[in-house]
Amino acid sequence: MTDRSLEESPPVIAIDGPAASGKGTVAQEVARVLGFHYLDSGALYRLVALTAQRRGIELSDAQALAALARGLEATFDGDQVILEGERVTDTIRSEAVSQAASRVAALAPVRAALLARQRAFRRPPGLVAEGRDMGTQVFPDARLKIFLTASAEERARRRYKQLMDKGMRVSMSDLIREIAERDRQDRERAVAPLKQAEDAVLIDTTSLSVEDVVRAVVERYRSRAS
Ligand code: DC
Repeated sequence: MTDRSLEESPPVIAIDGPAASGKGTVAQEVARVLGFHYLDSGALYRLVALTAQRRGIELSDAQALAALARGLEATFDGDQVILEGERVTDTIRSEAVSQAASRVAALAPVRAALLARQRAFRRPPGLVAEGRDMGTQVFPDARLKIFLTASAEERARRRYKQLMDKGMRVSMSDLIREIAERDRQDRERAVAPLKQAEDAVLIDTTSLSVEDVVRAVVERYRSRAS
């Protein structure tokens, strides 16, 4: 890509951070306020994991999983995730799929297979993309990069509330343990590990409301865009 074509690409706001840091809620709301498209990149890894489980593909079979990722028949309809015509929005949020997604996401061929699919979400007037490597790998030229964090306890508390609201019963201590384990896997993997881009703005959301964080991101974007 030439510098000129980069300048003409629709703007991207990249929002990265660990599990349950509030990225999803914040990114969706920022996209709504700005009228931008929205990419939940984690959902793609979750869909690969769910499909693998259903088809009995080993989570260590990188080539089979990459082929699956390339052919994934998935669409997004507002906040609904559709896999081969079936609504799987809640199914992909279960802890079993979360753990499997974290393993699948550690495989370089799977990440490579999903790259073009993620970049295709970049369309006018702009995109808010959330995940782990939006600012570092997928959209390194993002107009604004945000890295959201929150304490592990606060993230477990938020996930607990989310799951209880959906009628799923979980124990808080299991959640803290699972979140810590997933953080470790996401940070320590060799390919595209979770880390803050050098030019990302760090926001610790532990004691902030969603509205506070959305306002901070939108204000920063507007001050850069003008
Ligand atoms: O954001 P999430 O919890 O839905 O992500 C599910 C898994 O996918 C998580 O273990 C991290 C991984 N992931 C990733 O490696 N890169 C992304 N851009 C998004 C998610």
